Amino acid sequence: MRDIYTPPSGPPQGVSPSREIYSLMGEENIFKMIEDFYMELEKSSIRNLFPEDMKEASKRSSAFFVGILGGPPLYQQLYGSPQMRARHLKFPIDESARQVWLNCFLHILENSVQKYNFPEKHIAGFKLFLDEFSKWMVNTKS
Ligand code: HEM
Repeated sequence: MRDIYTPPSGPPQGVSPSREIYSLMGEENIFKMIEDFYMELEKSSIRNLFPEDMKEASKRSSAFFVGILGGPPLYQQLYGSPQMRARHLKFPIDESARQVWLNCFLHILENSVQKYNFPEKHIAGFKLFLDEFSKWMVNTKS
């Protein structure tokens, strides 16, 4: 087993995105946004970390984001307890992989107001959440 790195900052604290986002966007837009995010990851240098079928993989992430953005707890209903850091341990994620992941997401957010009806006033808070949460997914020293 490789050495697991634990970020000294610990789990993210107090950066949950606004739960109003779900009611303003709707479930379909969240699924569409995350599917497009996975299409972005597919073109990226960390594509090899992900399974063959990116569309299928995107659905698990979408279920998680529906819950996080204020919708029903779809992820828990379908796949059980999220425990995201534990679920990511089998993938070697270092700081540079995190940057690639985050940049793919930021790219999708650029047109998200028009494309997915993402509420503009909540974008900054959501970016903060992604930045903080992704730090906690890092499990490998660069
Ligand atoms: C730090 C950069 C990150 C990388 C490189 C990364 C990479 C991955 C990989 C390789 C998978 C597995 C795909 C699969 O087998 O289906 C995955 C799944 C997932 N990731 Fe990440 N991830 C990162 C950050 C995050 C963050 C910040 C979140 C949430 C805010 C997140 C949420 C998820 C979810 C919900 C899944 C699906 C888990 C499942 O299969 O049930 N990831 N991620």
